[in-house]
Amino acid sequence: MAKADYLISLIKTHYEGDAERFTTVALQTAAYEAKLGHVFVAEEIRNLVDKAKANKFRTKTFSSDLEGLIIESEADLRRSDLIVSETTQSKIDRVISEFIQRDKLRRHNLQNRRKILLSGPPGTGKTMTASVIAHELGLPLYTVLMDKLVTKFMGETSAKLRQIFGLIQQQVGVYLFDEFDAIGGERSRENDVGEMRRVLNSFLQFIERDNSESLTIAITNNRRLLDTALFRRFDDVITYDLPNEEEKLELLQNRLGPYAKDLNLKRLLPQINGLSHAEIALACLDAIKTTVLDDKKKITNALISKAIEERNLAYHSH
Ligand SMILES: Nc1ncnc2c1ncn2[C@@H]1O[C@H](COP(=O)(O)OP(=O)(O)OP(=O)(O)O)[C@@H](O)[C@H]1O
Ligand SMILES: [Mg+2]
Repeated sequence: MAKADYLISLIKTHYEGDAERFTTVALQTAAYEAKLGHVFVAEEIRNLVDKAKANKFRTKTFSSDLEGLIIESEADLRRSDLIVSETTQSKIDRVISEFIQRDKLRRHNLQNRRKILLSGPPGTGKTMTASVIAHELGLPLYTVLMDKLVTKFMGETSAKLRQIFGLIQQQVGVYLFDEFDAIGGERSRENDVGEMRRVLNSFLQFIERDNSESLTIAITNNRRLLDTALFRRFDDVITYDLPNEEEKLELLQNRLGPYAKDLNLKRLLPQINGLSHAEIALACLDAIKTTVLDDKKKITNALISKAIEERNLAYHSH
């Protein structure tokens, strides 16, 4: 066959929706290009095919009703980037390991932890955790946009939730209901706690009934919401805190990487008070950026110190 034949064949199989045949033709095209000595082209085609195979979970599209309500993201964060207390880490590890061994659990009539609640102050790694779990399990991460979910009409919100839980059942993934409290905050002027409660109750009913394979992760940094009704519906509650000394050091090392090679980072610790992981990470980035732009060869403690001071000021001034 000539190049044009492969092209025509690709187009044809695409429109016929014959995914298997499409892959075969794509690989034949790669072989053809390789024979012509176009090794890079061949390699690129093969990589695309491999990537598509790995992402086979992701090829389905949402029904139009859910468009704009759920976003799918590439989860590329590793466990080692997340710096949390040992207790928190072991709880996260347990969720991952139970998912991986869910069949084994099922054989004993047991279920893996699938419904998880994360709670803690801003910037301590809650959203990041969802991404790490999705990445570690090779599952797509679907974030439900909570503010879009809440409409003035309770009936509509429930209908949307029903659709979302339909998707959770149908398509295995990590489903993130981030920032429950955002709903409360946005509408807090009127009778919003009531409104928030109703949405929450509706959510709790759905999550209670859910018997899918997906992981559902809900996040809050509003401890007021953590009443017993809430706890009961989740298989596990994982809490987050501001970093302790050891975690601060680990985070500085992780974020500064090779830039911190010759620095005594311990000296910086007393200066970091009440800052979240996110703030410390940003201070590190600030310091790195300054070095890059100033063409200075090396980063110094003084530079990091200044960046931390700036974050401290920003943080404590409101
Ligand atoms: N525990 C952590 N370890 C490493 N980096 C962290 C951690 N927590 C936060 N970060 C950094 O800060 C960024 C923001 O964190 P994240 O969005 O996970 O915070 P959060 O707990 O969800 O906060 P919020 O309650 O404000 O949504 C992360 O992308 C990461 O760069
Ligand atoms: Mg978050």
